[in-house]
Amino acid sequence: MSAERTLILVKPDGVARGLSGTILARVEAKGYKLVDMKFVHATREILEAHYAEHVGKPFYEPLVEFMLSGPVVAAVFEGERVIEGFRSLAGTTEPTTAAPGTIRGDYGRDWGLKVQQNLVHGSDSVKSAEKEISIWFG
Ligand code: RTP
Ligand code: MG
Repeated sequence: MSAERTLILVKPDGVARGLSGTILARVEAKGYKLVDMKFVHATREILEAHYAEHVGKPFYEPLVEFMLSGPVVAAVFEGERVIEGFRSLAGTTEPTTAAPGTIRGDYGRDWGLKVQQNLVHGSDSVKSAEKEISIWFG
């Protein structure tokens, strides 16, 4: 059986604020293995596939616009229970209340925009991870 993998994105706010290295270092420091990575400006096509589950939600279009607003770092990390482990390290969706010690809790805040800018994305299941790794890395 191959090791579990997850797709992690440093979103445009994380890249713009110069936090890409800090964020990737925290994932590596927890012990997960970086197995693929690229710096990429997403296309609408990639984002429509990536966020298909959110189509129709009020934050969908602002979310796509936000993700198109600048480059992202896309990375694949590997390790036992890495999907759950990274989401725990990232913290909850809303940065205002994400626990201190998490990436979103330590570096994020609400900027009063139409969508939460929360620095990172992490796959939420093995199925999503497989789909997302194929979307971003082919
Ligand atoms: P992600 O997919 O980025 O890892 O984050 P998540 O699972 O914690 O959150 P999800 O529900 O999948 O939502 C995807 C992204 O949409 C933005 N969002 N903003 N009410 C809001 O303003 C709102 N709700 C969701 C966030 O950027 C969230 O990460
Ligand atoms: Mg999600």
